[in-house]
Amino acid sequence: EMFPQALFPTLLCVVLVPLHAAQNCPINVYFIIDTSESVALQTVPIQSLVDQIKRFIPMFIDKLESELYQNQVYITWQFGGLHYSDVVEIYSPLTSSKDIYLPRLSAIKYLGRGTFTDCAISNMTQQIQTQMANGVNFAVVITDGHVTGSPCGGMKMQAERARDMGIKLFAVAPSEKVYEQGLREIANLPHELYRNNYAITQRDTLEIDVNTIDRIIQAMMLLIKGSPESIFIARVPLPPPLPYHHTPLQG
Ligand SMILES: *[C@@H]1O[C@H](CO)[C@@H](O)[C@H](O)[C@H]1NC(C)=O
Repeated sequence: EMFPQALFPTLLCVVLVPLHAAQNCPINVYFIIDTSESVALQTVPIQSLVDQIKRFIPMFIDKLESELYQNQVYITWQFGGLHYSDVVEIYSPLTSSKDIYLPRLSAIKYLGRGTFTDCAISNMTQQIQTQMANGVNFAVVITDGHVTGSPCGGMKMQAERARDMGIKLFAVAPSEKVYEQGLREIANLPHELYRNNYAITQRDTLEIDVNTIDRIIQAMMLLIKGSPESIFIARVPLPPPLPYHHTPLQG
């Protein structure tokens, strides 16, 4: 087994499940894409790495399947996203519709300029809060880990704030050119799960790293289903019906 169960002490989707009614458990995946100069100018032609990120994400969400788990819980997926440099552009609120999401993703153009990853993480946290996203919240942060400034308190602090809100952050490098320490500040622990050499492209090429997609989704599914405390294992019977109590109409 890839990850021991002891790594998942967190209760993720808290709903009481009556025996005969399946509950919805939406899983939200929010992509945070660094389109600053350090990413966009890494490759020639400019933007080709950004274009690969824009291919990676549709392949990722194509592999997310809704399912009825143990006849009790509907796992459904929603996606949202922003991209950023020293400014933030929200390209899509959380939606379950690929028809809405994909054209918005594909319209992204690189922003260039500086890199304020702390502000981008802070903005994501706010998006998830204001959209009152119930269920399980994952953020996939795609950046090389370099920043040019930290006007929002630093990415370590903003990542901790997001974690305090229950958001689980994965860190994914666009290519092998990374500042690993930065990615480790963003990612949740354990890093075997949240920052396991994940990359958009394979080493020395611009080919999509499909293995990263599979490994992150596998990690997400383990987090959702693998926890002993997870709702997906708890079977909570309905309380017995109250005795019928007739209240005469007044008046
Ligand atoms: C998030 O970004 C949007 C778009 O740039 C901006 O309007 C909003 O004020 C930002 N929110 C935070 C908390 O930074």
